Amino acid sequence: MSARPYVIDEMISAKAIAARIEELCREIQEEFQGTDKLVVVGLLRGSFVFIADLVRELDLPIEVDFLEASSYGDGMESSREVRILKDLRGAIEGRDVLVVEDIVDTGHTLNHVTGLLKSRQPARLKSIALLDKPSRREVDFKASWTGFEIPDEFVVGYGIDFAQRNRNLPFIGSVRFTDA
Ligand code: IMP
Repeated sequence: MSARPYVIDEMISAKAIAARIEELCREIQEEFQGTDKLVVVGLLRGSFVFIADLVRELDLPIEVDFLEASSYGDGMESSREVRILKDLRGAIEGRDVLVVEDIVDTGHTLNHVTGLLKSRQPARLKSIALLDKPSRREVDFKASWTGFEIPDEFVVGYGIDFAQRNRNLPFIGSVRFTDA
């Protein structure tokens, strides 16, 4: 938990998120039309709310699996070196796969994870991130779909945490320290 006091300013409302998910799902359905089953892979833990809303809006046969990669720990800085803490339960060779992430920040996490999953030879591999901070990018990575581009601010809510807190906020908010 942060020792510094902070407030959370709403950046993206729950309503705006829901509307954007509807749009994204129409595009995903078009892309994967005719699939026998789409494996939707959620990156733990930050994507758990997003993936829950996404799959309920997707009119496709799906399966859900999860993968956990190391990220920020309890701080605000990316670790850059990505380690797989929990791998998929199922094989993805020859399958259609959609990787679901909360935020693309430096790009290291999704770059590493999609590289790893590609090496397992899925039929089609796409990725979606709810949020994208392009100004923070350190590796050349772009998700197949992005919900919202946001400025370089630390955000929480809708599954996303600051030191494990605030995941249960229904909206995306930015953290503002009040002792600065
Ligand atoms: P990347 O590897 O730098 O792209 O980092 C991606 C991961 O960093 C995300 O999945 C989040 O877990 C975390 N992250 C990046 N920005 C934020 C933020 O503003 N708030 C909370 N977590 C973040």
